[in-house]
Amino acid sequence: MKRVFIQTFGCQMNIADSAEMLAHLSRRGVEETKDIESADIVLVNTCTIREHAEHKAVSFLGRLAKWKAKDCSRVIIFAGCAAERLGEALKKDYPFLDIVAGAKGIDNFSKMLDESGLFAVNAQNYTQSVKSGVLDYVTIMRGCNFACSYCIVPSVRGGVKCLSPEVILENCAELAKKNVKEIVLLGQTVNAYKYEDTDFADLLLKAASVKGVERVRFMSPHPAFITPKLIDTIAKNDKIAKHIHLPVQSGSDKILKEMKRGYDSKTVIEKISRLKENGVLVSTDIIVGYPTETEEDFERTLELVDKCAFSFAYCFKFSPRRNTPAYSLKPLASDKEVEKRLDILLNKVRHFSAKAYKDAAGTEQMVLMETVYKGRTSGNLWVKTPKQHPVGSMVRVRIKESDGKILSAE
Ligand code: 5AD
Ligand code: SF4
Repeated sequence: MKRVFIQTFGCQMNIADSAEMLAHLSRRGVEETKDIESADIVLVNTCTIREHAEHKAVSFLGRLAKWKAKDCSRVIIFAGCAAERLGEALKKDYPFLDIVAGAKGIDNFSKMLDESGLFAVNAQNYTQSVKSGVLDYVTIMRGCNFACSYCIVPSVRGGVKCLSPEVILENCAELAKKNVKEIVLLGQTVNAYKYEDTDFADLLLKAASVKGVERVRFMSPHPAFITPKLIDTIAKNDKIAKHIHLPVQSGSDKILKEMKRGYDSKTVIEKISRLKENGVLVSTDIIVGYPTETEEDFERTLELVDKCAFSFAYCFKFSPRRNTPAYSLKPLASDKEVEKRLDILLNKVRHFSAKAYKDAAGTEQMVLMETVYKGRTSGNLWVKTPKQHPVGSMVRVRIKESDGKILSAE
């Protein structure tokens, strides 16, 4: 049996795509190995959202030259977003590369394997080797119809394509049968989901009612599709997690407009307030140092963070991506200035993150155990328990205290 070593870079979407690609390889009699030296195939699933991410993926590829030189029958597959952006041209610099499988072509991955002539379909050996844990991902849509000025995603993943509710719910049921308790519905703008009469709120409810599913989360929504119906659906259903990761990107109306985000700070703050009033913890993504960002714009971002008190935030330094409108803009602030802004923002974000943990002291929480001593609340906060509980069990606990990073249950 052939063995594949998989290296995944990037977001949850990529983790889910890697699992899908592994399933296609499994059908060809390939099993996964965690030991690259015993592998016959290396699959690198890549990210290109920021320059650093792409650089990591390409330098990993460079290091595979030695691995391939040991046995030229070994196969290297370079897949995902960086593969889509860089394309077949990569083979010029990396002639030992066998297959380039861009992110747009994930539906074609199986065909690509066949056309390479390197794999034979081997249904007999087909083992469902995709492992399952307490939590697993289900892709509900791919691509993005927005055109945020800084973002490369629409060009490497293409426009929105939604899967049918039937396929999605079947995937959820499959995972639940394998004892997966928490399902994360995935899409680039996941709450823009629409398939015939089914919108995202409808789909969430359906996923939450799949037998065996204890909790449903989703990643990543767009503020434009946070509707009263969606807030109500999240609030009223115990199985839908009371946490949302909602990227705001900036607190300055000028910058939000230039970014083409499709909302202003007032609208997004109002939506976040509604979510919080309904017991939902909100985390976010913020970009610092967008080329036209002034000190004043940055102040607006700090104000927004003060108002929203995010339970967590990923903060990114703007990274110019070729072929995006923001690429050619001349930065107003120096790199040192942007670093300083990032530092100030990170301190504020850490303060609110610790506060979210401290505020949970004294509350009762349902914890889904991911190890025998540790699990997560519906609001996505980590909890350690004094006693052991089976992995995958849902435990009702009272929170005693917090060190600002993890909650301790009584
Ligand atoms: N530079 C910095 N951050 C970016 N993101 C997307 N594109 C860029 C870029 N060019 C961030 C956004 C998005 C997250 C996934 O990555 O905050 O929400
Ligand atoms: Fe990129 Fe904007 Fe689409 Fe998000 S909504 S993937 S930031 S273009």
